[in-house]
Amino acid sequence: MLDFVQQAMKNVRQTGAVLPSSPALAKVMTRTLCAAKGPKRLLEVGPGTGPFTKAMLDAIRPGDEFHIVEMNPSFCSRLEARLLGPYRRRHPLAEVHLHSCPIQEARLEGVFDFIVCGLPFNNFPPTLVRSIFRQLLSLLGPGGELVYFEYAGVRAMKAPLVGSRGRRDLRQIGTLAKALRRRHLGKRELVLGNIPPAFAVRLRRD
Ligand SMILES: C[S@@+](CC[C@H](N)C(=O)[O-])C[C@H]1O[C@@H](n2cnc3c(N)ncnc32)[C@H](O)[C@@H]1O
Repeated sequence: MLDFVQQAMKNVRQTGAVLPSSPALAKVMTRTLCAAKGPKRLLEVGPGTGPFTKAMLDAIRPGDEFHIVEMNPSFCSRLEARLLGPYRRRHPLAEVHLHSCPIQEARLEGVFDFIVCGLPFNNFPPTLVRSIFRQLLSLLGPGGELVYFEYAGVRAMKAPLVGSRGRRDLRQIGTLAKALRRRHLGKRELVLGNIPPAFAVRLRRD
């Protein structure tokens, strides 16, 4: 947890949280993929110290593929040392790949059945939010699921702390999020057992 706090202080906008997500939020974020039968391709974007990564590693079976994209090299080293390295030693044939770069630059081939995204969208400019969602939705296979989270009331809480341009950006991100939920059978689930409480948002590629 200390590593996360240090990185959060160094890279405020990019990290977008002061604490890693809780096991309760990790359970909700990974529930559908954990219940899925048959071979699957998984993608996680913005794993940080890996609260969702752990559950995803537990869910993969021989023949599955798991790609992870994280732009902060410190988080990448920590993930490799504490989660991915030990996992690969126990499962030498596992297809688990860490891409140490921003998602916008990741070279990912094919489509995914499940995408779990931890990016702090409300810290990004709306144009970036729009292009990342476009990219992630294009990486979803038919019937695939993209799940991301945001803190409950995050835009209302941030609005008084930013200038008029920041408020306009937050409004645009809110409008985009609503449009995506309408277009992609979106479902929101409130998770109180997280600091702060968060909504897990599921979008589907129909
Ligand atoms: C809010 S933290 C979430 C960390 C973790 N998933 C959790 O829930 O505790 C956001 C993470 O996204 C990463 N990140 C931010 N922008 C990114 C980008 N464009 N591409 C890949 N990772 C990014 C940050 O470095 C950080 O690890």
